Amino acid sequence: MKLTTPPILEPPLIKGKFLFGHLMAAKKEGVYFYTRMSKDHGDALRLKFGHQTIYLFFNPEHNKEVLVDKPDQFIKGVRYEPLRLLLGNGLLTSTGKDWSAQRKMLNPLFGKEGMDILLIHINYISEKYSSPKINEEINWTKYMFEYTLEVAFTSFFGANFLEDQKLKLLKASSDCIRFVSKRMSNIINPPIYLPLKEHRQFRKSFLYLKKTVEGIYNSRLQDSDSPSNDMLDLLMNAHDSESENKKLTSDEIWDQILSFLIAGHETTALTMSWFFYLLAQNSEVQEKIAQECEKNNFQFENSLSLSQYPYLMAAINETMRLYPSGWILARSAAEEATIGGFRVKKGGTIAVSPLITQRDPRWWSNPDKFIPERFLEGHDLFHQAPRNAFIPFSIGKRNCIGSRFALLEIALFAIHFFKNHRVNTTQTDVKMKGFVTLKSDKHIQIKVTKI
Ligand code: HEM
Repeated sequence: MKLTTPPILEPPLIKGKFLFGHLMAAKKEGVYFYTRMSKDHGDALRLKFGHQTIYLFFNPEHNKEVLVDKPDQFIKGVRYEPLRLLLGNGLLTSTGKDWSAQRKMLNPLFGKEGMDILLIHINYISEKYSSPKINEEINWTKYMFEYTLEVAFTSFFGANFLEDQKLKLLKASSDCIRFVSKRMSNIINPPIYLPLKEHRQFRKSFLYLKKTVEGIYNSRLQDSDSPSNDMLDLLMNAHDSESENKKLTSDEIWDQILSFLIAGHETTALTMSWFFYLLAQNSEVQEKIAQECEKNNFQFENSLSLSQYPYLMAAINETMRLYPSGWILARSAAEEATIGGFRVKKGGTIAVSPLITQRDPRWWSNPDKFIPERFLEGHDLFHQAPRNAFIPFSIGKRNCIGSRFALLEIALFAIHFFKNHRVNTTQTDVKMKGFVTLKSDKHIQIKVTKI
C-alpha cells in the first residue's frame, strides 16, 4: 500500500461580500471587526479585502512562530512600502543584512549607557510638562503629542526650539505620519509622482523636517569639539563593532532619526493618552502610584531606576495590554511556509495582533478591565499569562529598540506629575480606532486638579 501524507491546508477562508469581501465591514467597524472575527472564527483564518487575501493569526504560539522563530520567512514586505517613502532604509523598514548591520550598530545607543545620556533630556522635558493648566478640560491627546515631540527633538538634538518652530515641526511630522498611515491602511494607492494636493502637502512637510534636521546636523559638524550628549551625537559616533572606521553617513543618520521619530512619537503619545484616560477613571490607582513615588522621594537616579517603581510599571504595562499602540503587526511570506500547521502561500500578507491576544479571555481574566495588580509579582491578583500573550513592544529580533526610552518617557512624566496633581474626566465611552496605530475615536479630555 502506498502511504500518502495528508495535504497541509490553508486556514479557513471566511467569505465576505461579493467583490469587496470584508473591506466595508473592516472600514466601518475598525479594530472591533478583527475582535469579532477572532471570536467567531478562532485563531487562524483567511479574509478577502477586495482582491487581496490576508492571513490572520491570534494565538500566542502563532505570535512566537511569526515573530521569533521564523523572522527570515516572515518579513516586512509590501505593507511597509508607504513607510519606506518616508524612512528610506532606516531601522524600522529595512530588511535582511542591511537591517542586521544597522541593529548591531544602534543597539548600544538604546542600552544603559545611551539611555543614561538621554535621560537628562527626558527628565528636563517631563518636569516642564508636568504642571499643565488646572481645573479646566485639556485636550490630553494633543498635550501628549506635544510632550513626546518635545522629548524626541530635545533628546535627539539637545536643541532649544522656539515655540513657533516647535509647532511647525509638530504639524510637519504629524502631516507626514497621517499621510503614510493612510497609505498603509489603503488597499490601493495612487502613484506618489501624481501631482495631487495631498502628495504636494506631504512633500512640503517632509522637506521642512529634512531641512530642519540637516541644518542641525551641519552646524554640529562645524562645532564637533564640544559633545552635545544627545542622540545626534550618539549616532555620529556610532560605529561598526568590527570596523572603527565604518560610521553612519549623513543620509543614514537622517533615515534613523526619522525612523525613531516616526516609530516613537505617536506610539508613546497614544499610550500616554490612554494611560491618563484609565487613571482619570481610577483614582485609587492614582493614589497608589503617588504613594510609590513619595516612598522614592520622587527620585529617579538612572535608566535602571524603573525597577524602583513596580506599581507604576504595572499600571503602564496594564495600559499597554489594553491599548497596545502597535495593535496589529503585518508581515509578508518570503516563501511558502506554515504557521500553527496551516499553509501560507509565498507573498501572502500575514498579521498577528497584540490587541486581540492581550484581550483574549483564555489568557486574561476580566480581559477588558484595568487591573494593574495583574502585573505585580507577589500580589494576589498577579497572573502569569502565557509567554507570548503580552507583546506590546513585539518580540523576537525585530522587537522595539526604543522600549526603554518609551518607558522612561512615560514613567518620568508620571513621577513629576503625581507630586502635585491628580486627574479626572467625564469621558467613559472613548472607543478604539485603529489605523496603523491604536487611536481613540475622539480626543481624550482630562481635568487636572492640584493637591
Ligand atoms: C509606548 C511606545 C512604543 C510602542 C508601544 C512601540 C511598539 C513597537 C512595536 C510593536 C514594534 C514592532 C513593529 C513591527 O514589527 O511591525 C516597534 C519597533 C520599533 N520601535 Fe517602537 N514602540 C514604542 C516606542 C518607541 C520609541 C520611543 C522609539 C525610538 C525612540 C521606537 C523605535 C522603534 C524602532 C526603530 C523599531 C523598529 C525596530 C527594528 O525593526 O529593528 N519605538 N515598536
